[in-house]
Amino acid sequence: MQNKQGAIRQDKRVATLTLDDGRSIELPILSGTLGQDVIDIHGMSKWGVFTYDPAFFSTASCTSEITFIDGDAGFLYYRGYPIEQLAEKSDFLEVCYLLLNGQLPDAEQKSNFVRKVTSHTMVHDQIVKFFSGFRRDAHPMAVMVGVVGALSAFYHDSLDINNPEHRNLAALRLLGKLPTIAAMAYKYHNGYPFMYPKYKLGYVENFIYMMFANPAEDYVQNPKLVRALERIFILHADHEQNASTSTVRLAGSSGANPFACISSGIAALWGPAHGGANEAALKMLETIGDVSKVPEFVQGVKDKKYRLMGFGHRVYKNMDPRASVMRDTCYEVLQELGLENDKLFKLAMELEQIALHDAYFIERKLYPNVDFYSGIVLRALGIPMNMFTVIFAVARTIGWISQWNEMMEGDDHKIGRPRQLYVGATRRDFVEMGKR
Ligand code: CMC
Repeated sequence: MQNKQGAIRQDKRVATLTLDDGRSIELPILSGTLGQDVIDIHGMSKWGVFTYDPAFFSTASCTSEITFIDGDAGFLYYRGYPIEQLAEKSDFLEVCYLLLNGQLPDAEQKSNFVRKVTSHTMVHDQIVKFFSGFRRDAHPMAVMVGVVGALSAFYHDSLDINNPEHRNLAALRLLGKLPTIAAMAYKYHNGYPFMYPKYKLGYVENFIYMMFANPAEDYVQNPKLVRALERIFILHADHEQNASTSTVRLAGSSGANPFACISSGIAALWGPAHGGANEAALKMLETIGDVSKVPEFVQGVKDKKYRLMGFGHRVYKNMDPRASVMRDTCYEVLQELGLENDKLFKLAMELEQIALHDAYFIERKLYPNVDFYSGIVLRALGIPMNMFTVIFAVARTIGWISQWNEMMEGDDHKIGRPRQLYVGATRRDFVEMGKR
């Protein structure tokens, strides 16, 4: 029997929880189409108890049809399609269509989608003025949080979150404008003139053009490098209920508009434990500086002085499948650019080998994640370190908006409202100032 959210209720299967006062609570066990079963605790509060699961180690916060991860096996599927196949055979906008609509597009659906996204790549001229309010040395992620949130103020006539057409329009606008805003953040930081998007270019090509072209000369692109960035975009497009996606869903559950929700996702992504890890991983490699320093650095990790950035994952207890694709891309890009002997790449390979064979990392199932390699690729493409997380945000926007849309489409979504285990002072009376 399927419940309203699409999970399958196993008729005879329940988990029984016995409280220390002798009461016994029967909790339904639900199955999805793939992955672990879950115990449905959502009716438990009526028994006067809550569950306690800080950092959500054991909690599914929603049902979803979008992305599946098997962390033990190291699988990642978007709408059922393995990430490796999409990275090799598809392109970013096709993956966006898939994530948003649930199916791969046919030729006509694809060209319509590409045309619509492309037509939304320019930003309102007033948006340009927001940039000058920032200091030139502002981190581009700070600019992204502000400017993307500010988009909320531009589309009053199409912000009805209960209207599927308005939601679709918001998705197209966000998808179209994020690369433009990201490139503008880069240009502003460096004092270069903004470049308008070019409709004739592909999505990723256009982003590279807006980042690196200037009005004074022609700009020629290397298709192999475009393809490498396209792959980075595909690999980062969605990753089920991670911190930023859960933030977007939680913000959206209150009825906030999609631009505000995506801005909250960008803020959550910024941290070094999440999207900031690629920047942190590259900084770490630069700090180590030389292959000879790797053993000493690894000892410091084992002594818990610092973490090995780009390693470990809450869900993957095996190789991150995105990391395997990214490592291949890393080789390809460095070869294309004649940088096979790149010092940081060699250092990363040495670090990877030592960590993969060290008991500390093996016991804790710590493997390289996508960010261990993506920083090296982005750096080779000429993208500055402070733009790494911005690139992640541009790519993840489709995941956030698809997850938000899925939640809004559901007929019984409610405001997200976790409870707490209160450990503060018990009731006490106010003490007058003179008696404290
Ligand atoms: N380096 C060294 N030790 C680590 C690392 C690491 N990168 N990650 C986890 N550990 C150890 C940790 O010290 C703990 O050891 P012990 O049991 O002795 O206390 C054990 O492994 C479990 O760690 P945890 O913090 O409970 O694991 P978590 O699931 O909460 O953390 C993580 C997941 C991704 C935040 C963490 O692995 C980490 O900080 N990694 C580095 C940052 C990083 O690369 N993040 C990118 C994630 S992939 C991109 C994305 O999806 O956002």
